[in-house]
Amino acid sequence: MRIDIITVLPELLKSPFEASILKRSIEKGLVEIHFHNLRDYTDTKYRQVDDYQFGGGAGMVLMIEPIDKCISKLKKERTYDEVIYMTPDGTTLNQKMANSISLQKNIIILCGHYKGVDQRVRDAFITKEISIGDYVLSGGELGAAVLCDTIIRLIPGVLNDETSALTDTFQDGMLAPPVYTRPADYKNMKVPDILLSGNFGKIEQWREEKAHERTEKLRPDLLK
Ligand code: ADE
Repeated sequence: MRIDIITVLPELLKSPFEASILKRSIEKGLVEIHFHNLRDYTDTKYRQVDDYQFGGGAGMVLMIEPIDKCISKLKKERTYDEVIYMTPDGTTLNQKMANSISLQKNIIILCGHYKGVDQRVRDAFITKEISIGDYVLSGGELGAAVLCDTIIRLIPGVLNDETSALTDTFQDGMLAPPVYTRPADYKNMKVPDILLSGNFGKIEQWREEKAHERTEKLRPDLLK
């Protein structure tokens, strides 16, 4: 998968891709990440990418021209499956969306900033608008990092244990069951006996029950 990220703050986005699973996915050649600084697509003296909004009002708006130049250049080089815009008024990201995006080959992610982008960018270029939750970030960069993390870990070969992503919370519409590791008894806080029994049929059944219990208690909306 190839991900092209368009941003005014590439430095804010680099570190998540320089550690752990995301780093490894790039090293294994399973994912390519390309950052595009919007300021490289403007001819103006001060590399201006934003301007005041027509009609008045507080806050700057990202201009259409540099975004058009960047997206058009990329589209000349290859076909893109999605051009995603990170914005608090987009569709809220969930596991189902992550699963579907992780199947794509080439995607562009545009990070909003300030008051957002000129509406004509959204009308002309964007195929999907995504929010990571009902709160406002200073820009789309952290949202883009969250989106990338959630999709990249689903790409086959990225996680060492192939089944690990499949048993994640939300993956089957339920929260994951509780997990334990050594020691089996810590200051008299004991691991459930069933997990030490070696009876994998029973363990699987117990996990399903616990996943259901936990979902019912913490996220009953998921069971509807
Ligand atoms: N940009 C600002 N707030 C955002 C949010 N909640 N999700 C995605 N992008 C954003």
